[in-house]
Amino acid sequence: MFYYYGRKKQIARHYPPPRQEVIIEPFAGSAAYALHADHWQRRVILVEKDARVAAVWEWLIHEATPASIAALPELSVGQKSSEFLHILHAATKMAFKYRTIKVTPVLARNWEISRRTFAANLHKVRHWEIICGDYTLAPQIEATWFVDPPYRHGPGTGYAHGSGALDYDALAAWVRACPGDVICCEGAGGDWLPFEPLLSLPGVAGKRSEERVYLQTGG
Ligand SMILES: C[S@@+](CC[C@H](N)C(=O)[O-])C[C@H]1O[C@@H](n2cnc3c(N)ncnc32)[C@H](O)[C@@H]1O
Repeated sequence: MFYYYGRKKQIARHYPPPRQEVIIEPFAGSAAYALHADHWQRRVILVEKDARVAAVWEWLIHEATPASIAALPELSVGQKSSEFLHILHAATKMAFKYRTIKVTPVLARNWEISRRTFAANLHKVRHWEIICGDYTLAPQIEATWFVDPPYRHGPGTGYAHGSGALDYDALAAWVRACPGDVICCEGAGGDWLPFEPLLSLPGVAGKRSEERVYLQTGG
């Protein structure tokens, strides 16, 4: 829904579509899987530990109106902003550290795209639910679970609540107990579940980044 470091928007189509009537994203971020295609029409439950990110969802789900979206300011290159939602649009892990940011051409462009995305997609999230807190707060109901935690190595360290704070063995046991279907994401080197290769994407400095997935099918 918004620019977010590590979001799955570009590759959401590579994951299996939901088979269940409920989608739960227990590591929500910008919830690209739930918003993809017609997935959003289901009951969607998001869980996000970063209170600032959860507050963006609270606003989108319960408060924002087409008029308030239309009134969102444009950002000019060179201006400074301390708005977390603006800062997120730098789409870098540093966004979680900055208190103020100087608007770059990339950030201004990303923000412009998001203003249009909010206006076009607001109606899709009105019935969604957001829980601010740990992934273990997700209701244990039959669902398609899209589990996209901070990756154990590399990029997962960047978030305010990053890989360093996660017990991956406990997470693996929790994933295995989720009722319904599970789609669980990881990068190269994550071995806490039997992940399979999904995609190899062009990364920074000519390197490639590996996307891996663990699929679990329930009843
Ligand atoms: C890889 S991002 C999710 C990206 C998302 N799939 C998207 O498309 O934007 C991981 C998210 O998990 C959140 N997170 C980290 N630890 C968490 C925890 N214990 N419980 C819930 N959310 C957590 C981070 O704040 C971050 O937003």
